[in-house]
Amino acid sequence: MNRIISTILIFILFDNICGQNTRLRERYSWRTVDFQFPDERTRQAAINSRDYIPNNNVPLGIEMWRDRFFITVPRWLTGIASTLNYFRINGDFNQSPTLIPYPNFEANYIRANETNYQNKIVSVFRLKVDACDRLWFVDTGLIDIIGAYRQVIAPRLFIVDLRTDRLIRVYTLNSSDVSEGTIFGGNMVVDVTADTCNQAFAYIPDFGGYRLVVYSYEQNQSWRIKHPYFYFDPFATPFYVGGLVFLWTDGVFGMGLSAIQSDNFRILYFTSISSTYQFSVSTRFLRDRNIATNTTTLLQGYQFLGNRGSNMQTTAHMLDERTGTLFYTLPNRNGIGCWNTIRFRNDFRPETNFILATDDVTMIFPNDIITDDANNLWLLSDRLPVSNIRGLTNAEVNHRLFMAPIDDLIQGTICEPNGLNSRISTQNINTRFVGSNNTSSILKFNDSINFPTKKYATLEQILKSEGSTYGTKEKIVKTV
Ligand SMILES: *[C@@H]1O[C@H](CO)[C@@H](O)[C@H](O)[C@H]1NC(C)=O
Ligand SMILES: *[C@@H]1O[C@H](CO)[C@@H](O)[C@H](O)[C@H]1NC(C)=O
Ligand SMILES: *[C@@H]1O[C@H](CO)[C@@H](O)[C@H](O)[C@H]1NC(C)=O
Ligand SMILES: *[C@@H]1O[C@H](CO)[C@@H](O)[C@H](O)[C@H]1NC(C)=O
Ligand SMILES: *[C@@H]1O[C@H](CO)[C@@H](O)[C@H](O)[C@H]1NC(C)=O
Ligand SMILES: *[C@@H]1O[C@H](CO)[C@@H](O)[C@H](O)[C@H]1NC(C)=O
Ligand SMILES: *[C@@H]1O[C@H](CO)[C@@H](O)[C@H](O)[C@H]1NC(C)=O
Repeated sequence: MNRIISTILIFILFDNICGQNTRLRERYSWRTVDFQFPDERTRQAAINSRDYIPNNNVPLGIEMWRDRFFITVPRWLTGIASTLNYFRINGDFNQSPTLIPYPNFEANYIRANETNYQNKIVSVFRLKVDACDRLWFVDTGLIDIIGAYRQVIAPRLFIVDLRTDRLIRVYTLNSSDVSEGTIFGGNMVVDVTADTCNQAFAYIPDFGGYRLVVYSYEQNQSWRIKHPYFYFDPFATPFYVGGLVFLWTDGVFGMGLSAIQSDNFRILYFTSISSTYQFSVSTRFLRDRNIATNTTTLLQGYQFLGNRGSNMQTTAHMLDERTGTLFYTLPNRNGIGCWNTIRFRNDFRPETNFILATDDVTMIFPNDIITDDANNLWLLSDRLPVSNIRGLTNAEVNHRLFMAPIDDLIQGTICEPNGLNSRISTQNINTRFVGSNNTSSILKFNDSINFPTKKYATLEQILKSEGSTYGTKEKIVKTV
């Protein structure tokens, strides 16, 4: 997602092999997302002035509180009507619900001649609802990320009381938390219990600046941590999504928090987008500014857990405390996977990970996953790279929300917590298809290189390929 390397190389259009998804049910879908404008006149005026360009609006982050389903639409491109929105899950039986700006239209709407952004919510990626009914998000303050890239206001952390819809706090991130390339777009997590609302900590990944920012609610202060594990793996930079091949050099992004451990701290599981490595760190090493930045901590506090396997990069984590399952999206596999943090606590390798669902049409760019109070998992797929590179049209369904009860989702897989009904190695992670016993349709991935030469380009091929524009924002589109 890093704007700096939007190296766009359009490549071979891969054979349309259909993966399998039997576990998740599609609940909502959109060709283009529409918004609740104050009235039809305003909506029409926005379309005429190009303040609202329907096909540019791509949902990215999701979160749920009671019957409100929140959806963010970052300002990657111009013409984004509203960045923070929701719809009511019970009230709207429409298959393609209209998004309602939150807290209102005016706070989200940015006119072309806007000059004062103080009272605006500019561009939000991910959201987090905590145990105290508060909504947390970072407004990145960025407009037209892949075009003019304008930082119109410093990144700000917002905390909203969902029971009253009242803004509790706005914290402008300390200037020392921000650097060239900073984008607070990843899975922020909030470390708090319902009894300790004032002692909350937010861990905020910066995938463009390769840092982790810790915010203490009690101190109303933040600090920034630099660690080699927050960077990308050069061999995991190529992505192929929806027939496009491109390189992303994105750092720390996916994060999941464990339940509270015997030492009273949680474990933070994290990974970079352009990486298949999994890491963890106890929050003991994050919650105190001095400990967090102490060299001994940086050398000894962080764990390398293992490798998920080839093409197992991920854009989102969600740790379900009840079952101990870490769920993650798989953009290079058009699906989602899991690993059980309790059952395989010290055993992270491809064989202890599991691909739960893939679909080469409906799950193109699985972007965010969440769990709700009723123990369901929700997945948003949104074809984001296709939008950013080639543009979307309303000729086909572009964005989908899938849902499944967590227990059904992991039943019979190695992600089940007790594992009574499943053994290790029930699935070879290097096979593309889930649950298929038809060996002729199984595609072997070669772990000693990151890309199987037949189906996908190697990094070398991408870099050498004619028209490659590594490191520029230029778009090159070749049709095949
Ligand atoms: C901004 O543009 C709108 C029309 O889109 C106009 O009504 C408004 O007066 C303009 N504001 C400024 C400060 O120029
Ligand atoms: C927290 O810090 C911000 C600075 O970004 C300040 O504006 C705000 O008033 C502070 N809030 C509290 C409760 O101290
Ligand atoms: C901002 O960062 C500086 C340098 O690390 C630090 O001295 C200061 O206390 C920080 N301010 C806040 C509000 O966290
Ligand atoms: C860093 O932590 C180690 C181990 O706890 C301690 O011995 C050392 O004094 C600390 N260093 C600083 C600069 O605080
Ligand atoms: C393979 O799949 C077929 C059809 O899905 C099924 O009938 C058969 O029992 C399976 N064989 C094995 C060995 O699992
Ligand atoms: C196995 O998969 C291949 C390729 O998809 C297909 O051509 C073949 O008919 C399948 N065989 C069976 C027994 O399903
Ligand atoms: C995997 O790739 C390596 C490096 O290109 C190659 O030497 C090896 O033969 C490949 N293995 C298989 C099973 O294709």
